[in-house]
Amino acid sequence: MLYQKLGKTDIEVSRIAFGAWGIGGGNVWSDLTVDAAHVGELLDQASDLGINYVDTAPVYGIGTSEKILGKALKGRRERFIVQTKCSLNWRNEGGQFEYERDGYIVNRDHRAQAIRKDTEESLLRMELDHIDVLVVHRVSSVVPVQETMEELQKLIKEGKIRAVMLSNSTPSDFREYSRFGIVAGVQEKFSLLNDAKREYFETCGTYDAVFQVYGSLEEGILAGTKVLNSVYGEGDIRSKSKWMKEPYRTGLLQMKEKLDPLCEKYSCSYANLVQAWTLAQNDKINLLTGFRHKETMNDTCKVLDLCVDKEDLEYMTKCRDDVRELTL
Ligand SMILES: NC(=O)c1ccc[n+]([C@@H]2O[C@H](COP(=O)([O-])OP(=O)(O)OC[C@H]3O[C@@H](n4cnc5c(N)ncnc54)[C@H](OP(=O)(O)O)[C@@H]3O)[C@@H](O)[C@H]2O)c1
Repeated sequence: MLYQKLGKTDIEVSRIAFGAWGIGGGNVWSDLTVDAAHVGELLDQASDLGINYVDTAPVYGIGTSEKILGKALKGRRERFIVQTKCSLNWRNEGGQFEYERDGYIVNRDHRAQAIRKDTEESLLRMELDHIDVLVVHRVSSVVPVQETMEELQKLIKEGKIRAVMLSNSTPSDFREYSRFGIVAGVQEKFSLLNDAKREYFETCGTYDAVFQVYGSLEEGILAGTKVLNSVYGEGDIRSKSKWMKEPYRTGLLQMKEKLDPLCEKYSCSYANLVQAWTLAQNDKINLLTGFRHKETMNDTCKVLDLCVDKEDLEYMTKCRDDVRELTL
């Protein structure tokens, strides 16, 4: 395993982080329900592989992911940097409507009292005395950033959290939040298919912040043929992806056929090849990947030993351009 400093903090994290959205299940990850014993086994394997960084959020399964993770962390807490999020809640106490999921209305709220409640509720759900990293799940366009950041700084002083990151944000948000305290990094969607957030690389370099990617496998769509050949219920996150619709789905199956010889050349899985492309884009990348199975976690860790030649990376970019240029 490789490790990196979490921005300007003294926290050291593994380059691969364990994403715990899927363990929240519900209609959103509808094909598997897991319990705390299973997540405990995943955590044990994570530490065996050197992974010390786990990410969840209150809204993952509407509290379920945090609750299961908290139970699974019993007796294992000191081995992990635990990261959760704030700013999205289903308390019906105001804020702006964000989405309806699993029968709950989720609002976005960055007022000081909301950020504090989010944090205290996460601590209770996970039965922890502190959270290592608190990510602002979606940034605000309504509440002054100063109000949110001042509350986050108070939570740091009180020992309830250690570091702050932003998600679903822009470099301009980053600069604004950084005026009121250290932002250790950002967590942004980034994949072979969707790499618009490379606009962030320069800012992360300037501020010495970590660029943590999520969705590098597009929720499994880029991990092989299994997801592309499956049909999911309406609420499932994979059924909402544009890449599951024609002509993209067929385009992605064809892209895999074109890239299969590279998997043979490098003796790696297709998921490894795709994630190696992601890691090659910037040296500050932290690869947050969702796992519900030991096999996928084990396989993903192999990507750190993989070095794909420049011309092969360029060929991959060209193949994905062909898919992106398809029109509905
Ligand atoms: N900040 C945000 O707004 C935001 C949004 C989305 C996600 N996230 C975070 O980012 C994490 C990762 O994103 P994600 O889970 O949506 O998508 P992802 O990491 O792109 O894909 C996860 C899926 O890929 C599969 N997978 C992982 N490694 C594999 C491998 N080597 N071979 C084959 N399949 C593999 C997993 O399988 P199994 O499940 O079968 O093990 C899982 O179904 C989430 O868990 C969450 O913590 C944050």
